[in-house]
Amino acid sequence: MAALVVLAVLLLTETAISQSDTHANYPNIPNHCRGSLPTSDFIKNRNSTLDDLRMQLVSKRVLYARAQNLSGGNLVFAQAQCRNYLSVDRCVECINIGVFNILKCTVGDSAYVFLDDCSVRYEAFADFYNNPNVNEEPDGVTGFSICGNLSASQPLSNYSQIVDDFLSDIRDATPKTSNLYVANIRRIANENATVYAVAQCAENINQTICQACMNIAYNKLKECLPSTEGKYFDNACFAKYSETPLFSDNQTIDITNILKGVHSSKVAMIVGVIGGLVLLFLIFVLCLFRLRKTSKKTEQEDLNRTLNYNYKDLQLATNNFSEENILGKGGFGEVFKAIIDDKNVVAVKKLQVQDVRAKEDFVNEVKLISNVHHRNLLRLLGWSIEGSDLLLVLEYMANGSLDQFLWGAKRGTLDWNQRYEIILGIAKGLAHLHNEFHVKIIHRDIKSSNILLSDDFKAKIADFGLARFQPEEETHVNTKFVGTLGYAAPEYALRGVLSEKVDTYSFGIVILEIISGRRSTDINSDRPSMEYLLEHAWKLYEKKLHIKFIDETLNLNEYQQERVMKITEIALLCTQSPASNRPTMSEVVLMLQNDRSLGERQLTRPTFMQNQDRRIHIASSMKNNGVSNV
Ligand SMILES: *[C@@H]1O[C@H](CO)[C@@H](O)[C@H](O)[C@H]1NC(C)=O
Ligand SMILES: *[C@@H]1O[C@H](CO)[C@@H](O)[C@H](O)[C@H]1NC(C)=O
Ligand SMILES: *[C@@H]1O[C@H](CO)[C@@H](O)[C@H](O)[C@H]1NC(C)=O
Ligand SMILES: *[C@@H]1O[C@H](CO)[C@@H](O)[C@H](O)[C@H]1NC(C)=O
Ligand SMILES: *[C@@H]1O[C@H](CO)[C@@H](O)[C@H](O)[C@H]1NC(C)=O
Ligand SMILES: *[C@@H]1O[C@H](CO)[C@@H](O)[C@H](O)[C@H]1NC(C)=O
Ligand SMILES: *[C@@H]1O[C@H](CO)[C@@H](O)[C@H](O)[C@H]1NC(C)=O
Repeated sequence: MAALVVLAVLLLTETAISQSDTHANYPNIPNHCRGSLPTSDFIKNRNSTLDDLRMQLVSKRVLYARAQNLSGGNLVFAQAQCRNYLSVDRCVECINIGVFNILKCTVGDSAYVFLDDCSVRYEAFADFYNNPNVNEEPDGVTGFSICGNLSASQPLSNYSQIVDDFLSDIRDATPKTSNLYVANIRRIANENATVYAVAQCAENINQTICQACMNIAYNKLKECLPSTEGKYFDNACFAKYSETPLFSDNQTIDITNILKGVHSSKVAMIVGVIGGLVLLFLIFVLCLFRLRKTSKKTEQEDLNRTLNYNYKDLQLATNNFSEENILGKGGFGEVFKAIIDDKNVVAVKKLQVQDVRAKEDFVNEVKLISNVHHRNLLRLLGWSIEGSDLLLVLEYMANGSLDQFLWGAKRGTLDWNQRYEIILGIAKGLAHLHNEFHVKIIHRDIKSSNILLSDDFKAKIADFGLARFQPEEETHVNTKFVGTLGYAAPEYALRGVLSEKVDTYSFGIVILEIISGRRSTDINSDRPSMEYLLEHAWKLYEKKLHIKFIDETLNLNEYQQERVMKITEIALLCTQSPASNRPTMSEVVLMLQNDRSLGERQLTRPTFMQNQDRRIHIASSMKNNGVSNV
């Protein structure tokens, strides 16, 4: 009896201590520990998830990681993000501090810790990945600011005005960069001072949310002036300015070009705002309407609704799969344009699967794929199965596929910035497939015709029809070749050796196509010998002439030419053999973003597959797999 009382007291005090711990012991670290009381199994899963985060940072040498542990139904989702100016080692140090502090949270199943250099967060629901600015606080605001206590040395000068201008530039530029990150410096001559500013939006939120968060950040930081330092923390973004150096000068991100676009579009913006208000009103009315329509359904039905479509509805929506609705023909089947509920345009892919066993496999895959969400991966909206027909309902991309812009009808219409964004987008999408989902997904058939472009020319990787799922341990499984010639890595095409590096290789080829505007299998017309695009690129690179490789429809300034040449080198790195010499896609993303390109790595001559006999051999084995686009 006495023991029980002691135990109860211990438990009570422990809870009480940990509760105050999270807030009192780390007064300088903004944190949050809330939600429902977690079970000990949740805590175990949480501990494992946080370990996973740290391991990923260390082993993949990245500055952002996500992890989850769903064992026993105690769902834990977590992410860690460092500012881009950090080295991986310093990032890990920062995350260690974050994890140390977040582990103190024992009274809630939702927690975050914000540090200047990084942040860590976990939740019991996955949704926060896509919607990080969940309003958990009673006042509906998650973010808050901390101002420094020192005023600028000469308060009479226009310090505040200059820093205010600077911060508004940061606010405008951050959502427009490819990685939603800006680091910049402004010198204040008459103060003899330099102001540093950093802003970063959370990975995986879109531009719109980033902009909204930066607007709040700007307003809060402005209130800090004329203090020499201010910080704003939020789940969606972080912003800080300070006279203390935050990063070295060579890590500055040039924002002048980005801002040029912003300022010239101010007039357009005013017109846009009025249009936007009208649109908002319409959306509001629509939402009300929808809400009323769907509120009767149970939550479970809601979950299924995103997946299960009625076959008849889709038949109707595609005009009974009419010729006129055909958008394209892929390896496995035709793709139709469909209009659902009289307003939503989607794409419907029709697959023929005869074998019952294959059908089951396919359905299982489809269910898995439908959980993969990333802005550079084409969303699977639903599916339907009837007889041997399997229908996949996909996002509709009005701009079609990338190949049409490189050598098809729309050749020459993409400028370099758009091409760069596309390259980066594909890299991010692939990195997500390889690392961030709980099973490793190898696409196997990356090619320009599988890259679709959204209205704003962002890349969306399509066609997971061929992807097979790999348990995380087995990265080298011998499987039949299901790729496309000209894009397939030699070890995969010739010996069926499959690893995620197969995608890295194909991605390298796609970069070469994007830069040169030429098809990977085009034979160099200047030479009598057979010379595919990769070989052509390599030969020019060897002679340091890879500037000649660039698409002549591109109008580049000197700086851009430098960039394109560096990215050509990244492409050549991706196509190295053996596969172990190729970088992972997460490494590629960092290389593309950081302008650091190859670093220490040496390029060697790629393995070229151009032997006629081999090609016939591969072509015939591909036929057996039902792949038609040789
Ligand atoms: C989780 O980690 C914390 C901090 O390392 C530790 O105190 C606690 O015992 C761990 N809990 C479980 C259930 O492993
Ligand atoms: C999930 O966490 C448990 C501990 O609760 C651990 O035993 C298990 O290995 C973890 N699973 C994964 C996939 O990390
Ligand atoms: C941005 O993301 C939010 C939340 O995930 C979503 O509601 C919104 O529609 C998205 N906007 C765009 C332009 O994608
Ligand atoms: C102002 O900040 C400095 C160091 O950042 C600190 O030592 C000092 O105590 C602070 N002053 C006040 C009044 O908070
Ligand atoms: C700040 O003052 C200096 C001289 O005192 C002036 O040259 C500069 O234009 C001013 N800057 C702004 C942004 O007002
Ligand atoms: C500016 O600051 C630097 C270092 O803080 C100092 O060495 C220099 O003399 C200052 N210049 C002026 C004009 O105040
Ligand atoms: C940037 O500058 C630091 C010193 O301030 C130096 O150590 C580092 O190598 C430089 N990085 C690059 C990429 O030039």
